[in-house]
Amino acid sequence: MNKITVVSPANIAFIKYWGKINPKLNIPFNDSISMNLSDCLTTTTVEFDKKNKKDKILINNKEVEGSKKERVVQILDLIRKKVGIKLFAKVESKNNFPTDAGIASSASGFSALALAGSRAAGLSLSQKEVSILARMGSGSACRSVPDGFTYWQKGKDNESSYAFQIVPADFWDLRDVIAVVSKGGKKVGSTEGHELATTSPYFSVRIKNIEKRTKNLKKALLVRDFKTFGELVEEEAVDLHVMAMTSKPPVFYWNNGTMDVMKIVFELREKGTLCYFTMDAGPNVHIICLGKDESKVKKAIQKLSSVYSVISNKAAAGAKIICKN
Ligand code: DP6
Repeated sequence: MNKITVVSPANIAFIKYWGKINPKLNIPFNDSISMNLSDCLTTTTVEFDKKNKKDKILINNKEVEGSKKERVVQILDLIRKKVGIKLFAKVESKNNFPTDAGIASSASGFSALALAGSRAAGLSLSQKEVSILARMGSGSACRSVPDGFTYWQKGKDNESSYAFQIVPADFWDLRDVIAVVSKGGKKVGSTEGHELATTSPYFSVRIKNIEKRTKNLKKALLVRDFKTFGELVEEEAVDLHVMAMTSKPPVFYWNNGTMDVMKIVFELREKGTLCYFTMDAGPNVHIICLGKDESKVKKAIQKLSSVYSVISNKAAAGAKIICKN
């Protein structure tokens, strides 16, 4: 058995995954679109070996137990079943971004685990199969498997719900400047948020509009029409948070810092710098801009006392094996 190390990126969703038709398989209600992030990476090493007495999972040098471990073991079990082995694994995973920054590590983590785990067990899965396996760990992880800008087709069953590339990372010099406005982890995780999605009275409105928005955003991406693209990105972000704020019980992911950063985005636009915000299930703000405007955007938000740190990202490759031995 090989010891395999994989590096995989987190991703920012321009069209979001919010709500699951099949919660067991993480099959979403709608297709989604994202960009892999160059500076939010997880490195994961997996080794199946008879010397292991149980599965051992280390995240950022700390052994994890409980539900976090169960989620990882569930993927290891799927791999063991496919190969027909009973060996336990040692999984070591590290994030290069601060763990207390509230940036989702499930996408980078499970995409890295799916590729490293399957290869370590001797499987040579296609990219589509790795994406499917990653999705079983965390839905958004399936989008971190292919390179660049990716599309998760919701599909209708396990085999048809996976992500593929729309265009490679170097197709468009977009940046995601993340304003970290909260140091703590999330109070309501995205998995719980998904469960609440359908309790919002606006959920049916979202479903009615989402296909058209997805089509238009993909079209804007393909012709590099940044204004149309950015306006749709913002519309979608607000839509997700309207769902959260109107679900039962409601979830408010934003804090004062979120609003401060949004205000700066509006001001920059008024002064002629095109940039747009999006947020996932947390308060941190991802500002999407063109490469030429990145330093201007960074400078503007660094002035805010509610911004603890800034992480700038370009579009990046997906999950990659970096070491075999
Ligand atoms: C708001 O993929 O973290 O970031 O499948 O339950 O692990 P699980 O959920 P997850 O949900 C991500 C939700 C989101 C939007 C997105 O990334 O599309």
